[in-house]
Amino acid sequence: MGRDLSKVLISEDELQTKIRELAGKIDADYAGHELLIVGVLKGAVMVMADLARALHVPVQMDWMAVSSYGAGTKSSGVVRVLKDLDTDIAGRHVLVVEDIIDSGLTLSWLLNNLQSRNPASVEICTLLRKPDAVKVPLDVKYVGFDIPNEFVIGYGLDYAERYRNLPFIGTLAPHVYGGE
Ligand code: PRP
Ligand code: MN
Ligand code: MG
Repeated sequence: MGRDLSKVLISEDELQTKIRELAGKIDADYAGHELLIVGVLKGAVMVMADLARALHVPVQMDWMAVSSYGAGTKSSGVVRVLKDLDTDIAGRHVLVVEDIIDSGLTLSWLLNNLQSRNPASVEICTLLRKPDAVKVPLDVKYVGFDIPNEFVIGYGLDYAERYRNLPFIGTLAPHVYGGE
């Protein structure tokens, strides 16, 4: 383990087991339907890639890139679309796939935005969820792991664009982001 990691929070095996479990539920819920999974760039790339391969229902994949901006704080709830869907989602069953819900502000904005396009349904699948997410009213149908309020990296999650390629979820050592 590199010096920048303090510990492995969720191992590669645990991640893959959970992805298969989520895929099983999604397969059952969408049986007989075609599903459009929408990944939120960039963090969701790993979950999307593994979840898509674990699903058996017919799937199409699309992507959105969003950026929250405001007075320098992490998530202001004001979201700018950097890349919109290529797909017209009217009448489609849409499943938004995220790596993590932290404040929940990005996703609550995104959900409103997608609902205004008249899909047949929109649901959310997130691999990780932090405790603050309960502060916003967000109906999340599929959750992989509820995790403590620590800075997590790997499996798509970055710190300053690094560590996304780790195959597991780890926590960052405090010295990396200016702690002791
Ligand atoms: C992270 C994460 C979620 C969002 C969650 O993305 O991947 O998309 O923040 O935060 P929230 O619940 O507080 O709104 P980020 O903006 O870091 O972009 P990235 O996916 O490209 O890393
Ligand atoms: Mn993201
Ligand atoms: Mg990020």
